[in-house]
Amino acid sequence: MPIVEARNLSHVFADGTAAIEDVNLQIEPKEFVVIAGPNGSGKTVFIRHLNGLLAPTRGQVLINGESIAKNLLQTRKKVGMVFQDSDSQIVGQTVEEDVAFGPENLNLPPEEVEKLVSESLQAVGLESYAAQNPHTLSGGLKKKLAIAGILAMKPEVIIFDEPFAGLDYPGTVQVLKQIVALHASGHTILLVTHELEKVLAHANRLMIISQGKLVKNGAPSEVIGSCESYGIRMPLRENEGIETLTWLK
Ligand SMILES: Nc1ncnc2c1ncn2[C@@H]1O[C@H](COP(=O)(O)OP(=O)(O)O)[C@@H](O)[C@H]1O
Ligand SMILES: [Mg+2]
Repeated sequence: MPIVEARNLSHVFADGTAAIEDVNLQIEPKEFVVIAGPNGSGKTVFIRHLNGLLAPTRGQVLINGESIAKNLLQTRKKVGMVFQDSDSQIVGQTVEEDVAFGPENLNLPPEEVEKLVSESLQAVGLESYAAQNPHTLSGGLKKKLAIAGILAMKPEVIIFDEPFAGLDYPGTVQVLKQIVALHASGHTILLVTHELEKVLAHANRLMIISQGKLVKNGAPSEVIGSCESYGIRMPLRENEGIETLTWLK
């Protein structure tokens, strides 16, 4: 059974903008899916439907075969979202408090919250920053903090919206290694990016969204040739295959 499924998903905003139109897809457990598409093509609007941050105008989203409309709280636990803007995701005065926010809202006992916080900080290597003000962290570490906050909810699926945007090279490497480790530990990964060269070597599937429609969906080696025609810049030189994208493997 697919872990994530979108059926005829459409979203029209109040001003009449049809941001996504009739999107159908299925994602199996433990896949690593990259979603690419030009600016304004509907990527963010699409993924925000997958954990109920946006409700569809038409169609539905199913997680493990169940419509998310039935249980939004359960969905938010199962499907974690790492936003493009890490600052907007910071809610605590300290790193520790920030990670505790999610489990505290589930009304878990304090000792359980403490355990989840410590495990999550350890998973992203932020234990030594526990008492620090999140706003003083580097871009890469803020992204890791957002990931820790999501791990504390024990999600099955983790969605990343442009995780490398605004990061310098060390930050990018830090975050990419973390994402690859999350996949290796059994999470299903969905990642929106236009920086395909950074992640494609790790993905088993590439989707292209253009003008609100899912126009390509297949193995990266099959889909990659279509990227430029949809305005997605491919930094590879001619005759270089996808094998050259293994710089972090
Ligand atoms: N709250 C909103 N109200 C009206 N239009 C919106 C809103 N949010 C996004 N849009 C529009 O929906 C389209 C898709 O946006 P988005 O999903 O953010 O694109 P991207 O692929 O860059 O992530 C764009 O035309 C955008 O202007
Ligand atoms: Mg976006």
